[in-house]
Amino acid sequence: MSFPEDFLWGAATSAFQYEGANLEDGKGWTVADERCQAKSQIQADSSVASDGYHHLEEDVKLMKELGLKSYRFSISWARIFPDGEGEINNAGVIYYQRLIDLLNENHIEPIVTLLHFDIPWALIEKYEGFVSRKCIDAFEKYCRTCFELFGDKVKYWLTINEQNVMVMMADMLGLKKDDPKLNLKFVQCNYHMYLASAKAVIACHEMCPDALIGPCVSYPTLYAETCHPDDVALAYDMQDIMAFAPMETYVNGTIDPIVMNKWIKDKTVPEILENDETILKAGVADYLGVNWYCTQTIGTTSKNGSFNIGVEIDIKKNPFLEYGHWDWSYDPKALKMALKECYARFRKPIMICENGWSEIEEIRDGKIHDSKRIEYLHDHIEQMEKAIDEGVNLIGYQHWSFIDILSSSQGFDKRYGLIFVDRDNFNIKECQRIKKDSFYYYQTIIKNNGLGEENGKQ
Ligand code: BG6
Repeated sequence: MSFPEDFLWGAATSAFQYEGANLEDGKGWTVADERCQAKSQIQADSSVASDGYHHLEEDVKLMKELGLKSYRFSISWARIFPDGEGEINNAGVIYYQRLIDLLNENHIEPIVTLLHFDIPWALIEKYEGFVSRKCIDAFEKYCRTCFELFGDKVKYWLTINEQNVMVMMADMLGLKKDDPKLNLKFVQCNYHMYLASAKAVIACHEMCPDALIGPCVSYPTLYAETCHPDDVALAYDMQDIMAFAPMETYVNGTIDPIVMNKWIKDKTVPEILENDETILKAGVADYLGVNWYCTQTIGTTSKNGSFNIGVEIDIKKNPFLEYGHWDWSYDPKALKMALKECYARFRKPIMICENGWSEIEEIRDGKIHDSKRIEYLHDHIEQMEKAIDEGVNLIGYQHWSFIDILSSSQGFDKRYGLIFVDRDNFNIKECQRIKKDSFYYYQTIIKNNGLGEENGKQ
C-alpha cells in the first residue's frame, strides 16, 4: 500500500503570517497583530508579512506550478468582522472569495482554518476574548457567516489552530502575563474554545452537509529524559494534558478526566452549564488535524518551567538527535509513531496540517539551496508512507509552509517556505518570490504521489 490516489498533497500558511495588509481594506486589529508588534523592534510585524494580500494571483499560479492538490490557509476573523461581531467588511469577503475561486479554478482544494492565533482585538477589549462566553457567540456568528459565504466552495474546514498552545500563552489570548487570575482564565478560555469549536462543527454540519470539519492540534511527541519512572510518568502525563486530552474533547466530546481532576485540584473549574455536554457531544470532529514538527525531551531537574501545567519541567537536548538553529529536533521516525498513536486512540482520519523545517536562508546565484528541507521532506514522507502501510488513515499533508512567512516567534529570519520571499527583518524590498530547490523536490513528490524511484523509494 502507499499514498491513496486522492491524497491531499498540500502546503499551508496563516493569515497574519502571510497576508500583511493588517489594517488595509477595513480589516480590524487582532491579537496576532498586537503580539507581532509588541515582539518586533524591527520591520517584521504583520503589516507586510509575505505581502500575500497583494500577490494573490501570482501565488496561486505558483501553487499550480508546484502541483498542489490542496492549500491550507486561514481566514482572518477581523477581515470579515473588523470588531469581531458587528458589521461585515465586504472588502474582506471579496478577498477570500477571490482566493477560494482561484483555488477551485486551478483544482486546488481549499482547506480553511477559521481561527489561527488572530482573535479580533475588539473582542479582547469588550469581553477579554474567550474568558467570556460572549466570545463563543461571536465566533459562532463569524463561522456561520463563513459557511454561508464560502460553504458551497470549501470542503475541508479547520476550527481553531493549536488551541492547546494558545491556552498556555497569555499574549496569544490577549491576556496579561501578570494577571493574578491568569490560571483560572487559561482554563476558562480553554473550556470556552472547546465549546466554540464544537459550535462551529455543529453549524458546519447543519449548513454544509458535504463538508468535513475538524480541529488542528499541536502535537510534539514527548520523550522522557531518562527511563526513571518519575521522568517517564511526567512525559506520559504531559503528553496527555498537552495533546491527547484536547483530541479527546474534539473527537469524543468529553473533558478528559485527567484534565478535570487537575482543574478541581487547582480550584480552576470553569462555569459548566447544563447544555454544554450536549454541545460538546454534538460537535465532534470528522477528522483530526495534527501539527507535527519534532520531538521534545523533557526532564524535571531544574526550575525553568516551560509549560503551564503546575509542574516545573525542562526541555532537554536529546543526545541521539540532531537539532536545528532554533533547537527544534530532527526526528522523522517519531512521526510514524505519532500518527500510529493518534490513530490507535481516536480512529479518525488524520490530516497533517503542519510539518516543516526552518532555516536562515539567503539567495546564492539567484537560487536557494535548501538541502536540509529536502532531506526533511524525504524522511518525513517516508515515515508517513510507512504509517499508511501499517494501517493509519492519513488523508493529507500540508507542508509548513507554502512560502516564507512571518514566524510566529522569530520574525522573518526563520524561514519555512518552499518559496523564498525576498525581504528581511529590516528591509521589506519588493517581496519577490523565488522558488527554492525544495519547491522542485516537492513538485516531484506530488507528481509521483509519493517518494517514487527518483526520490529514493526503496
Ligand atoms: C505552529 C503554528 O505552532 O508552528 C504556526 O501553527 C507557526 O503558525 C509554526 O508558524 C512554527 O512556529 P514558529 O514559532 O517557528 O513560527
